[in-house]
Amino acid sequence: MKIRKAVFPVAGLGTRFLPATKAMPKELLPIIDKPIIQYAVEEAIAAGITELVFVTGRTKRAIEDHFDANPELERALRDKGKNDVAEMVRKIVPEGITCIFLRQPEALGLGHAVLCAESVVGREPFAVLLADDVMRGDLPTAALVAEYAKAPGTILSVMEVAPQDAQNYGIVRPGPNGEVAGLVEKPKPGREPSCLASIGRYVLEPEIFDILRAQPPGHGGEIQLADAINSRATAGNVRAVTLTGQRYDCGSKLGYLEAIVDFALQHDEFGDPFAKLIARKAPCSGAEGKA
Ligand code: G1P
Repeated sequence: MKIRKAVFPVAGLGTRFLPATKAMPKELLPIIDKPIIQYAVEEAIAAGITELVFVTGRTKRAIEDHFDANPELERALRDKGKNDVAEMVRKIVPEGITCIFLRQPEALGLGHAVLCAESVVGREPFAVLLADDVMRGDLPTAALVAEYAKAPGTILSVMEVAPQDAQNYGIVRPGPNGEVAGLVEKPKPGREPSCLASIGRYVLEPEIFDILRAQPPGHGGEIQLADAINSRATAGNVRAVTLTGQRYDCGSKLGYLEAIVDFALQHDEFGDPFAKLIARKAPCSGAEGKA
């Protein structure tokens, strides 16, 4: 069965980016001029997904506005001769793509947020994208969808992390033949079953809803998606695809800054002047800067 739907859990409070996120959703923080949620949406669309399901919460209405049409803005831009900008705004949600917005009434965890999408997803496989994880280069959602097309199952995007960082992730417990035998959410330091971290891209099957509905709170008192995937893994057929592109943890300030710097360095228009600017600001970091 084809993956047609993607769920974007976007109800998180974004406390790490206060005061910026007091009134603005953290998912609308920009990397240069594009909000981080739009990168995830573009990744889903590039993977052939046509229904975008946003699980939002209070103070998140601006996300809805961002993905809604804005004919007044488009008209104003066209009146000023800025047709290309008007077209760019119009295509934020391309033709044939549907957006659906649901509310997660209480922040009870990632697993709970995914469960909130059940009525819209129905009994079909679907993708989940966490907007905090911004990707560049090879995009993982397309790779997960391709892996699912080979054989159904639960498919995780994974990457190797340093042992001391394992406590920040869902960590894969590998089986004897390298399969995913389990997933441990945020293991205590030194207790990680491997250094293979699950990152914020998943293809899930509707049975995950049945597990989540009955699941008690886990790490941090929250209903964890990783625990539900762990239950699926004990029944078999959870597979992992290793990330080949670049991931930026935009849930942390340093990861967010790294994303901004990298995207700016690659920017068509001002990549070169930005590189020069950076070199000037860090005069001791390279031969060029010392000149
Ligand atoms: C979530 C998941 C975790 C996963 C991580 C990837 O954690 O619960 O399993 O490894 O995303 O970014 P969070 O970063 O939201 O705490």
